[in-house]
Amino acid sequence: ASTLGAQAAQSGRYFGAAVAAGRLGDSTYSTILDREFNMVTPENEMKWDTTERSRGSFNFGPADQIANRALSRGQRVRGHTLVWHSQLPGWVSSIGDANTLRSVMNNHITTQMAHYKGKVYAWDVVNEAFADGGSGQHRPSVFQNLLGDGFIEQAFRTARSADPAAKLCYNDYNIENWTDAKTQGVYRMVRDFKSRGVPIDCVGFQAHFGTGGPPASFQTTLSSFAALGVDVQITELDIAQAPTNAYANTVKACMNVPRCTGITVWGIRDTDSWRAGDKPLLFDGSGNKKAAYNATLTAL
Ligand code: XIL
Repeated sequence: ASTLGAQAAQSGRYFGAAVAAGRLGDSTYSTILDREFNMVTPENEMKWDTTERSRGSFNFGPADQIANRALSRGQRVRGHTLVWHSQLPGWVSSIGDANTLRSVMNNHITTQMAHYKGKVYAWDVVNEAFADGGSGQHRPSVFQNLLGDGFIEQAFRTARSADPAAKLCYNDYNIENWTDAKTQGVYRMVRDFKSRGVPIDCVGFQAHFGTGGPPASFQTTLSSFAALGVDVQITELDIAQAPTNAYANTVKACMNVPRCTGITVWGIRDTDSWRAGDKPLLFDGSGNKKAAYNATLTAL
């Protein structure tokens, strides 16, 4: 096939992009979006600081713009994200007692998932809960500090009740290298959830890579998680300088793992990227295909 989405679909996978509502009016951007991609992730519009800026007052306008546009074109939508320490409004981070925070977290998950029932096929229920470095433990956050290790389980159980049909994912970065303590910490959590019947369906690997691309063990990591009985996805792919072999190696790691169900790049053109200085994406600032685009299409 001649586009990323159509080529990925030949093996039952999707190829997605992070989308910003504010760019949809740019016709170069939207033309590439609709030609190449069959899944979209709102880049910021479903984050807590946009959807519930003050307690109990929900704003789904910007995310609806992305989601409704995508669904009308047959593109799937990934929900990003429900519980995250970052882009979290001050009123949440300053909550001081566990009972209040638990009910606020559950209400946030339930209200947002109810709004997107039947529209969002998979949710990043919890994002980036594990610490960098060698601890293999959760990072500090208001959720961790007040609710303890059980906050992740609580979030997934609430999410399953809110929309039993949605896929529930844990999403993180720097969990691509199999032997890293952070990877192993997430692996132990997923293994524990599966053994105790805590609902979890998928693990998202952000894959924000440096010029070297994925670690050599990336496919091992994907297949090891998949063997626990979850799907895996590459959810936020970008690679500094976009070397062709680094993109090809990333795509091949997914293609070689049957339960790796899709790949999402974190933006369309280099100029759309949160790491624009690294020129890490598949299209240049004018919307032309880069060499990495061809390497990606060939590897799919
Ligand atoms: C980034 C967005 O791309 C930026 O526009 C925003 O300013 C900060 O967040 N991990 C994630 C994404 O899960 O939500 C982040 O997105 C990038 C890192």
